[in-house]
Amino acid sequence: MHHPSLKAFASLPAKERWFCRARLALAPLERVAARASGTALLDVGCGHGVLAALLLHEHPERRVVGIDPDARKIAWAKESVGKNPNAEFRAVTIETLAAERPASFDCVIIADVLCLIARSTWPSFLDAAFRLVRPGGRLLLKDAENDGSWRAVKALWQERLMVHVLRRTVSTGGIGFATRDELAAHVTRAGFLLDDIVSQARGYTAPHVLLTAHAPNRSA
Ligand SMILES: C[S@@+](CC[C@H](N)C(=O)[O-])C[C@H]1O[C@@H](n2cnc3c(N)ncnc32)[C@H](O)[C@@H]1O
Repeated sequence: MHHPSLKAFASLPAKERWFCRARLALAPLERVAARASGTALLDVGCGHGVLAALLLHEHPERRVVGIDPDARKIAWAKESVGKNPNAEFRAVTIETLAAERPASFDCVIIADVLCLIARSTWPSFLDAAFRLVRPGGRLLLKDAENDGSWRAVKALWQERLMVHVLRRTVSTGGIGFATRDELAAHVTRAGFLLDDIVSQARGYTAPHVLLTAHAPNRSA
């Protein structure tokens, strides 16, 4: 059974529709969307907008902004879920958006993006995420964790295939998974307070993990 939010992609070419279905089948994006909070949401590294479509499904009160450096994917997102007036997609960096709209999101979501960017740029990337979320707002960070398992090795080769062979995914500086302790350390260094970090690997062949954190309230 396909999630009804996939209807948003019905007008895309078959290859792109297949890609969106595969994304939803291979990653626990529904579980990520279920943890989202508030009405102003930011999907960083949104790709085609599969997660954005889930976030908007049965939530007419929400507004979702999706950003991605891959202009091809932003074009597909605009042609599909972007037709929803509550969705906005832009090919800008997180740093650019943070300068434009500081403290304007209730929830910032980063799904399977950190593993595709150079580890040296994680601090500035997460600093920008911190600037974008309003005081008390939530960060959802979904990635795969380096838990030393066969799942981690398999997931790494899968990402390499997508980036270097199929060229379906843009990597900005490297491919690699961090341990959950490393993920937590980067998030808290940026100023977030960690709520929990939970494996989402059950039912999947990749070591999915979801970290939830929040920005302190101004008075804290
Ligand atoms: C595996 S896809 C995940 C897409 C989407 N978040 C989802 O869960 O379906 C990774 C995405 O990260 C994007 N990306 C790569 N480098 C990025 C960066 N520096 N900032 C934001 N997104 C980036 C890629 O273009 C790609 O769309």
